[in-house]
Amino acid sequence: PEHVLTMEDWGKDEIHGLLNKAQEFANQPSKLPNQRLYAANLFFEPSTRTKISFEAAERNLGLDLLHFEADTSSVKKGETLYDTVKTLESIGADVVVIRHAKERYFDELRHHINIPIINGGDGCGHHPTQSFLDLLTIKQEFGIFHGINVVIAGDIFHSRVARSNLEVLERLGANVYVSGPKEWMSKELLHRYVPMDKAVELADVMMMLRIQHERHAVKMVAGPDKYHEIYGLSEEKAQRMKPDSIIMHPAPINRNVEIADALVECSRSRIFKQMKNGVFVRMAVLSHVLEKQQGGLLT
Ligand code: CP
Repeated sequence: PEHVLTMEDWGKDEIHGLLNKAQEFANQPSKLPNQRLYAANLFFEPSTRTKISFEAAERNLGLDLLHFEADTSSVKKGETLYDTVKTLESIGADVVVIRHAKERYFDELRHHINIPIINGGDGCGHHPTQSFLDLLTIKQEFGIFHGINVVIAGDIFHSRVARSNLEVLERLGANVYVSGPKEWMSKELLHRYVPMDKAVELADVMMMLRIQHERHAVKMVAGPDKYHEIYGLSEEKAQRMKPDSIIMHPAPINRNVEIADALVECSRSRIFKQMKNGVFVRMAVLSHVLEKQQGGLLT
């Protein structure tokens, strides 16, 4: 089956094809399958946007949902991820979406599960559908990726969004920079580093990231107020952004930490547009994998 696990698996033409399909869904959201198909969303880590927008996307496509809750499932009795997914496949799921804390959880599944697996986020690893919705949002805004200055700022080290986006944006021709605490960047990224004061003047896209407290084994680099002052996008810093530049954030947001409360819904912000686009790219991804699996599935 065709799985959607990392952005690295996608060639440029395939990425643009997927974004075009997502844009078609944005223009005309409903498209029904010509047979009954089941989707199961297996979320072993918390989620609001990814889980609910997959549900919306599945319902928009006319798929039936097989409900799964990790906390009330036999995972609690020790059943493995592999046996859980194999069980869903046996019961009749046609596609599974999985979010799991283990980085690259999908390596043990990809060659043994015979239905498409869509990665809804693996630990600090990858988040391909977030990346697709970010790409769609940038493409809608600027039409192209080539030459666009994207600054990814904040908790880079723990961010699967940063990892997925860095690689694909660079491959599509954007100039990708990083900002935030250097302690939260690998050495290989330091040549892309720009301090926030410079970043806000340079960026066409300021992509702010949440501090992932749940993944921090070490002490925070600064308290929330200090963090906001040094590394956050404050109202004062936002005033120095270029006239047509935009603010993005995958959310959830720590208001007044990485981004000022007043900027979350300001005219530059595309944060809620990103969430809306999440439904369309997930429809496109589901439709893509099911068409490959079933052949000419959707009417
Ligand atoms: N952006 C994102 O993945 O949000 P959730 O964790 O709420 O799904």
